[in-house]
Amino acid sequence: MLKSARRTHTCGELREEHIGQEVVLQGWVQSYRDLGGVLFLALRDRYGVTQITADERCAEAVRAVGSRLRQEFVVEVAGRVERRAAPNERMATGQIEVVPAAITLLSSTPPLPFSPESAEGAHEETRLRYRYLDLRRPALQEKLVTRHRAAQAARRYLDGEDFLEIETPVLTRATPEGARDYLVPSRVHPGQWYALPQSPQIFKQILMVAGLDRYFQIVKCFRDEDLRADRQPEFTQIDIELSFATQDLVIELAEGVVRAMWQAVLGRDIGEVPRLSYAEAIARFGVDNPDLRFGLEHRDVTELLSASASQVIQGGLTGGGIAKAMNAKGAAAGSSRRVIEGWTKFVRQYGMGGLLWAKVKDDGWSGPMGKLLSEGERAALGEHLGAEPGDLLLLGVGAPGVVNPGMGRLRGRLGRELDLIDPGDYAFAWVVDFPAFERDEEAGRWVACHHPFTKPKEEHIPLLAQGRHGEVYSDAYDLVCNGYEIAGGSIRIHDPEVQSAVFEALGLSEQEAQEKFGFLLDALRSGAPPHGGIAFGFDRCVMLLAGTENIRDVIAFPKTTSAQDLMSGAPSGVDAGQLTELSVASTAP
Ligand code: AMO
Repeated sequence: MLKSARRTHTCGELREEHIGQEVVLQGWVQSYRDLGGVLFLALRDRYGVTQITADERCAEAVRAVGSRLRQEFVVEVAGRVERRAAPNERMATGQIEVVPAAITLLSSTPPLPFSPESAEGAHEETRLRYRYLDLRRPALQEKLVTRHRAAQAARRYLDGEDFLEIETPVLTRATPEGARDYLVPSRVHPGQWYALPQSPQIFKQILMVAGLDRYFQIVKCFRDEDLRADRQPEFTQIDIELSFATQDLVIELAEGVVRAMWQAVLGRDIGEVPRLSYAEAIARFGVDNPDLRFGLEHRDVTELLSASASQVIQGGLTGGGIAKAMNAKGAAAGSSRRVIEGWTKFVRQYGMGGLLWAKVKDDGWSGPMGKLLSEGERAALGEHLGAEPGDLLLLGVGAPGVVNPGMGRLRGRLGRELDLIDPGDYAFAWVVDFPAFERDEEAGRWVACHHPFTKPKEEHIPLLAQGRHGEVYSDAYDLVCNGYEIAGGSIRIHDPEVQSAVFEALGLSEQEAQEKFGFLLDALRSGAPPHGGIAFGFDRCVMLLAGTENIRDVIAFPKTTSAQDLMSGAPSGVDAGQLTELSVASTAP
């Protein structure tokens, strides 16, 4: 590291071999203790903490300065490295201390809302408001170091595979990735708007048409959507596209990126990554981003219960309903009625009417499920689920669109609450063979499962003209890890005719398609190579690498769940004059 003229070492650097050297350190006063004539300072910077001991070995004037210091003052300490009388094995620099010849105050502060050491106890809103204080915490700095190492590893890997890092515009036209756009008014063109990109999707495809062959970018994307623990309104993708690609090649390269990041940060090999079809993921886990660190798989018991006399079950099965069960082995004793009520409330959020359950005992079943089923059904179900005394059986019955996500999310929750997960584990999987379209029942139309530029499987393309959209599958793939979707991509449509057919399937008139995506269609007509790609949710990758479930931990300046930056106060009102200049009228109260 190139050093400034004054600072000779960082606060994490000094060891036994430096004993006897004259050094200059600069940093923050993490803590101080004045024991009447002996002053101990813990001096902190990004690299670590060094103890400064001012005692009878120092001039009186030095000790006098020391006693004026307070927590989080910034100081420079010039002194000699000495062996500590009582080494501290828990500190990397614990063998030594610096005995100061001079302590210079570089900057001071009034008492702060919290210190980095007490930050854990401060409310998250306060910590976000004073993000610069929170970021002084070594635990948070470590996460940003992880982020940096992962980004560098991905860059090195992609550079080694001949990918070019190319920037795409931020002031652009809306790209449809399923969320609302952030819009920016144009001053020069009154009444016209830029959209911030939800992803660089169209631009990266056009780079392929332009012959750049292999592109990547670590890029900000903007989506105005409901926020969750793993979602931010502006987030970062490692965006990748390549020409003459096959699904297998994209998958191999994407695994290369993950392997490089996991190796660089954790020194771990991610091993073989299994592939599941979308249908298999839904059947076994209820969701397309399953956590594969534990079992607790779904069992479809629709057939088994189809003749049930129970009205509850029959009611759920009418009109194409399904019945899915899980056997939580040995969980009966630990799951009180109140706990199960909590899970019932949880699945109701996904539209399920309720959750049927039974505790398996030596002499039969207790709980509502046992009462609803006949003896024969209990025996058949018990055998199907491998039920043994002490097990807790859970059953959901209803439309697949509610039972799958309800029981799927419940499985994720049970994995955590029943302690089925080893937190040091990483379970990756590819989910492939997605349907191309989903029915939006509310809007009464088809929407793209991934995005409108995803190539339908070659053999399914003719189905488009026959209106059999529900039977069309696509060359799309997602990478999941520990229950998170960490990347998604596809082979793209490079034939303008197919692209037009997909726009039509999505209910875009020819005129609308031309208006919104004419430039892409024109590009595809000008000699487009077959191409495909993928984008990683980089923040989510870093969450996994850093072992946190809070996306805000891995972003230097994150937004709250209501999309605010509490430190800078964004969003904020603007001057009426600015709005006039932009030809924008506010209807806000
Ligand atoms: P997709 O929409 O699947 O694909 O996004 C790719 C990955 O980005 C992450 N992600 C998010 N992370 C944090 N906050 C959000 N709001 C958020 N939204 C998405 C997810 C997701 O897997 N253009 C396509 C990629 C392609 O086809 O190549 C796209 O953006 O981890």
